[in-house]
Order: sequence, then structure tokens, then C-alpha cells
Amino acid sequence: MPTKSALAQQLGVVAGFDNPQASLEQYRTPPELAAHLIHTADLQGDVQDRTVVDLGCGTGMLALGAALRAPTAVVGVDIDPAPLATARQNERKVGSTTSVSWVRADATRAPLCPPSDTTVVMNPPFGAQSGNEHADRSFLATAADIAAVSYSVHNEGSREFVESFASDNGGDVTHAFETEFELPRQFDFHEADKRHITAEVYRIVWA
Ligand SMILES: C[S@@+](CC[C@H](N)C(=O)[O-])C[C@H]1O[C@@H](n2cnc3c(N)ncnc32)[C@H](O)[C@@H]1O
Repeated sequence: MPTKSALAQQLGVVAGFDNPQASLEQYRTPPELAAHLIHTADLQGDVQDRTVVDLGCGTGMLALGAALRAPTAVVGVDIDPAPLATARQNERKVGSTTSVSWVRADATRAPLCPPSDTTVVMNPPFGAQSGNEHADRSFLATAADIAAVSYSVHNEGSREFVESFASDNGGDVTHAFETEFELPRQFDFHEADKRHITAEVYRIVWA
């Protein structure tokens, strides 16, 4: 298996959002975090020979990371067509052997019926800026519906929420890790040039 740092380097060419929309919490997951998430999923046997669905794929960072690790198929779903166009260009730049199906759809009502051993990966909107706390709840609900296992990024302090959502919906949190990253200023309401984010990543096995 190639290394995590090699994957991060390959994902370094993935372009972010040209015109990010704050209401959709559009920011590109840093390549190092995407590589950590996908490499962990691969070590767990959740990528190779699996269908991988990226909910809220944006410009394709997580979907393309999975596509570089020999899955059966990869689907990237986003509600906004603009980043999907960038994702197609990113796919050519990354040069993955598995092609990705890019689908414009609401991930909270995804018109998908993938195979039963599907893995979902996602960095969904947190709802933190809009006051719509736990906007990630409806993304987790989709994962519970379509996935055997999911990997999801959440904001700091989500452990109780994620664990109780999982157990209420036939899931079990098997792995968790905390991560920190910096995001460049991209919305007018950001006061500093960079924002420091602490996030949490959860692996959930769904019944
Ligand atoms: C934090 S960004 C993550 C983007 C990308 N997955 C990445 O890792 O770089 C959240 C993404 O969710 C998308 N999104 C927000 N609400 C959505 C919805 N209801 N259905 C599908 N995508 C949605 C946004 O357009 C945005 O691309």
C-alpha cells in the first residue's frame, strides 16, 4: 500500500472552490487530512474493492483520494454544480485509475442505491456559522441509509452527538481521531487571514 504522505502529495494538485459559498460551508479539506482519512479507511479494508460515496464532495478531495486506492467505483455527490466542474478537472490532474461519477444532488436525499458494502466518506457542513447546529445530522442519516461503514469529519465537541446518533440508528463508532488544520480567509465575515480549526473524524459501522 502506498504511504499516507505519498497520497497527500498526489492530492496536493486538487484545486479548491473558485467562488465558495458560505451558506454551503464550502472549503477544501486539506490534502493531509484527506490522506489521513482515506489511508485509515484503506488500512481498515474499507476502500479497495468497495464502492465509495463522497457526500458533499465539493471539488473532489475525498472522492479522488479514494479513487487512488483501487476501489470498485467512486461516486461524488454535491448540491452545487460549480465545484463539480472543478472536480472533473481535478480528476484529470490526479490521474486516478478508477474514474469517478460526479452527481449533482442533495446529499440529504441522495437518489442512490449503492451495493450493501458501500463506504461513505464525507466532510459535511457543520452548521456552525448559520446557527443551524448539527447540519451534519442529515448527512449521517444518509450514511446510515446507504453505507456499511462511514468516515465523517465533524466540528470539535461532536463525540456525544455522533455516538448517540450512531447508536440510535443501528451504528457503532469504532474509531475516532482529532485533527487540526488552518483554512485561508475566504468569506467576508472571517476577520483573520487564517482560521484555526479543530475537527473530529469518526468511523461508524452501520448495521
Ligand atoms: C466542507 S465542504 C467539503 C468539500 C469536499 N468534500 C472536500 O473535502 O474538500 C462541504 C461540501 O458540502 C456541499 N453541500 C452542502 N450542502 C449539501 C447538500 N445538501 N447536498 C450535497 N452537498 C452539499 C457543499 O457544496 C460543499 O462542497
